[in-house]
Amino acid sequence: MRAVDLIQKKRDGLELSTEEIHWLVSGYVTGSVPDYQMSALAMAIYFKGMSMRETRDLTMAMVGTGEQMDLSAIHGIKTDKHSTGGVGDKVTLILAPLVASFGVPVAKMSGRGLGHTGGTLDKLESIKGYQIERTKTEFIQQVQEIGLSVIGQSDRMVKADKQLYALRDVTATVDSIPLIASSVMSKKIAAGADAILLDVTVGDGAFMKTEEEAIQLSETMVSLGKEVGRQTVAVITNMSQPLGRAIGNRLEVLEAIDIMKGEGRSDITDFICELAQMMLELAGVQKSLVEIREKLTNGEALEKFEAMIQAQGGDIIDLYRPVQVKYVVEVKAEQDGYVSALPALEFGLFAMKLGAGRAIKTDALDYESGIVFDKKVGDEIKKGDTLAKIYSNQKITENLLTEFKKNVRIGSERIIQKEILKIIN
Ligand code: URA
Repeated sequence: MRAVDLIQKKRDGLELSTEEIHWLVSGYVTGSVPDYQMSALAMAIYFKGMSMRETRDLTMAMVGTGEQMDLSAIHGIKTDKHSTGGVGDKVTLILAPLVASFGVPVAKMSGRGLGHTGGTLDKLESIKGYQIERTKTEFIQQVQEIGLSVIGQSDRMVKADKQLYALRDVTATVDSIPLIASSVMSKKIAAGADAILLDVTVGDGAFMKTEEEAIQLSETMVSLGKEVGRQTVAVITNMSQPLGRAIGNRLEVLEAIDIMKGEGRSDITDFICELAQMMLELAGVQKSLVEIREKLTNGEALEKFEAMIQAQGGDIIDLYRPVQVKYVVEVKAEQDGYVSALPALEFGLFAMKLGAGRAIKTDALDYESGIVFDKKVGDEIKKGDTLAKIYSNQKITENLLTEFKKNVRIGSERIIQKEILKIIN
């Protein structure tokens, strides 16, 4: 076989066979298919798409390029959750301990943020001492003991995705449904959980810009999961504005703690309870939203979170420490009205400029910097109200402040935004 012929086949809109897909993926990992040919193939897939059979073959070929986690030593139905990326997305920090507090084991591997999107690992690493690297034995033992662990994706799993994701990131081929579906599902399948909740974000701050695309991606991923015997549900969620109040690593950890103390905004608190209900149901546990909210806000989820932080070497005193930055700038409303839009992409990019996110993989992070919104879409405001606070270690120039204010859109009518748009199962 020659890579050039297979690239041409896909470029011309033909289907690749199972054997051809496996040959390309294993050749890419072993080095016989170079980056430039894989880039061309990714672009051909971007334009021509893949059939469901090809997407499944690509997913399973990727799973085969590394170790697979065997979680059978852990008693019960093991659950996992994945988000396709967003701004201010601290859901895992809250949902994982909440679900674990019902006795359902959560064994989760998370990723880092890139560009305007944040990553759970970076948030956890903003806590002094927290170890994201665990051996397989330590990971399994911790889930057996406390029912919960969130670690980094092992380098030994799905090697093809590590290489391919980095390549897609610099060749404008990230936002392709077969490539996203195979990337996400190869990792979830290799990670070994029995039940998977997929949070498929849609909107300005997400890879999927329309609900139709999000539905197509969700259906593809749910069917990939089910085909290999994993209970899989996808929830299409709104990412047109940042999720919750905070963007920025430590600021999001602090918001997660507030939510687990019952002091969070009701929109994100309700949203997390609904996700928890679905994740519990996947594990065969039926709970009402009232019961879930009770556990979320009565300190039990927070206790689980603390147990995980401590088990992974994190410092509990540091966990509760307020952010340490040189500058805190309050952004005030200049007119009365309602917040009508807070474009997630723009604020994600703004937070990145403050150092809260990485433009390229090797960028260092400023864990302390970010934004906390006092007002969100639909909230009423009066002239002089604080809209948001910017936490930064660099001086906020007039230009930056003007850019920030320009993106806080104010209207005269209240807009109601739903967090959960659709459920695909
Ligand atoms: N998240 C992933 O893990 N992979 C993608 O391709 C996109 C989002």
